[in-house]
Amino acid sequence: MSLQLHYGASLAALNTLRVPAWAGLLAQPDAIEQLPDLFAAARAQKLPWLVIGEGSNLLLAADFEGLVVQPRLLGIRLAMNDPAGHAPPAGDRVRVRAGAGENWHRFVQWTLDRGLFGLENLALIPGSVGAAPVQNIGAYGVELSDHLAAVEAFDCQHGGSHRFSAADCGFGYRDSRFKREPDRWLITAVEFDLSRSPAPVLAYAGLREELAAGGIGDPQPADVFDAVCAIRRRKLPDPAQVANAGSFFKNPIVPELQAAFIADHHPDLPMWPAGEGRNKLSAAWLIERSGLKGHRVGDAGISERHALVMVNHGSASGEELLALARHVQDTVEARFGVALEPEPRIITGAG
Ligand code: EPU
Repeated sequence: MSLQLHYGASLAALNTLRVPAWAGLLAQPDAIEQLPDLFAAARAQKLPWLVIGEGSNLLLAADFEGLVVQPRLLGIRLAMNDPAGHAPPAGDRVRVRAGAGENWHRFVQWTLDRGLFGLENLALIPGSVGAAPVQNIGAYGVELSDHLAAVEAFDCQHGGSHRFSAADCGFGYRDSRFKREPDRWLITAVEFDLSRSPAPVLAYAGLREELAAGGIGDPQPADVFDAVCAIRRRKLPDPAQVANAGSFFKNPIVPELQAAFIADHHPDLPMWPAGEGRNKLSAAWLIERSGLKGHRVGDAGISERHALVMVNHGSASGEELLALARHVQDTVEARFGVALEPEPRIITGAG
């Protein structure tokens, strides 16, 4: 069970923007028992570390001279016994547990194949199960936090494993305690409470339209899964074809007054109530209206399909992609007075 360390490892295949960056050391632990010694050694040598999943929400704008850790903790099963002794979910609720290294989309398929519903709107999101709670992935009317029961994580700074209930995870829009304490937690497993009774969530208008266009009147979870896959394949660039990291910016949340001011001049601005007298605006719309959809500087670009997605057309470096992201932020801020916040983790150098 000894853990192999790779010295001077290329990260080019471990980030979906396919940036050619390097790690001083790379470890891919496949057992939780390997973690205490690994991080104790890193702490003793004052080596910075970076935990990654499948690298689908990561911009490597520099080499990482410390230790990169990609957990390969596998396994999906029904979780009958909660180690904390909580009562199992009642009625037709079923608890499912997945290792952090499992691929997210394959996990969603696994649940649907067994008639366990709730995650179908989150089909085809790139990345691993362990990365999903970090940014509280969400799409087409559902967020991970709607179905998450517990997260188990290793404390890289102090050693020891912890179990967090959903309430302890501090979830927000593309946010969690794990994102706010990026170097502390390595998520090892995630548990979900799913349902044997279908309860399709059709809040997202584009999803209802897709189902209606397919002539589906009484959509079942499998129909929702298929429709979400079809929308994503049509609207978003496929990371297998064009390197990208999904949405590069979060949809900005601004005071209602500011949203109303912009909408006075641009009545077609898409916006949604975000509580506490604030509105969420469409970052994609702001970027497109700033003239940047399809914009390209060398091989760094903004997708022609979706303005929220930055793409690497071939050999863009991390620095070039970061420079383009800053250009997008500056242009949108100058035109609309709105600050865009990047969604992926950006690495600008270790130590
Ligand atoms: N729009 C444009 N130009 C574009 C694309 C979209 O003006 O090039 C406008 C559309 O007209 C629409 C609005 O932007 O009114 C919203 O677009 P969309 O429904 O595609 O969703 P989004 O807000 O851009 C968010 C998530 C996506 C998720 C979709 C669907 C964030 C940062 N992104 O995008 O998540 O798939 O909703 O629910 O919240 C991701 O996080 O990586 C991601 C892809």
